[in-house]
Amino acid sequence: MNLDRAIVEVDRALRTLWASAHSVRPLPGGDLPDVPLDREQRRHVVGLMRVNHCGEICAQALYQGQALTSRDLVVREALRGAADEETEHLAWTEQRIAELGGHKSLLNPLWYGGSLGLGLLAGVLGDKWSLGFLAETERQVEAHLDGHLSCLPEEDARSRAIVGQMRLDEIHHAETAVAHGAAELPAVCKLAMKGMAKLMTGLAYRV
Ligand SMILES: [Fe+2]
Ligand SMILES: [Fe+2]
Repeated sequence: MNLDRAIVEVDRALRTLWASAHSVRPLPGGDLPDVPLDREQRRHVVGLMRVNHCGEICAQALYQGQALTSRDLVVREALRGAADEETEHLAWTEQRIAELGGHKSLLNPLWYGGSLGLGLLAGVLGDKWSLGFLAETERQVEAHLDGHLSCLPEEDARSRAIVGQMRLDEIHHAETAVAHGAAELPAVCKLAMKGMAKLMTGLAYRV
């Protein structure tokens, strides 16, 4: 990697972790009323949105790592395109956390570093495995967002609109990965990914 490229990649990482993300699309549900939530509901919703924000930090790092090691230009471009959409998810969840007076996960740098390493490794294994890893990640995120939609307060239409649109985007990302030749991961890999996601979501909900 030449110096210019290295600077661009480090800048990308620093902006993801410490700058506010920007969205081209408007905030889903941005015109819906912000119905007051009681203290316990607000704590719960902030926890869920912090988990989602942390997941998007991980997505940025995974995509960055995979794009860096991918051998195919078309795949690299697809990864960059999906990463742009994940940046919007980052912006939406960040905005909702701020609206509710919460804070982002303190462990984000740790998860970013781990996810970048995983993305680099997946890319090194070859594009079909890298895309398979991506497709499985997106499917697990979709299931996880389904879980959030079932436990977010019905009256919190703003949070529900954000999670609903993210879910649709993640489904599309998985389909894109499959269309570019994703391989089906072995069951043991899927299980390991679920275990790691459980650890991350459990911690991010609290800190
Ligand atoms: Fe996302
Ligand atoms: Fe995604």
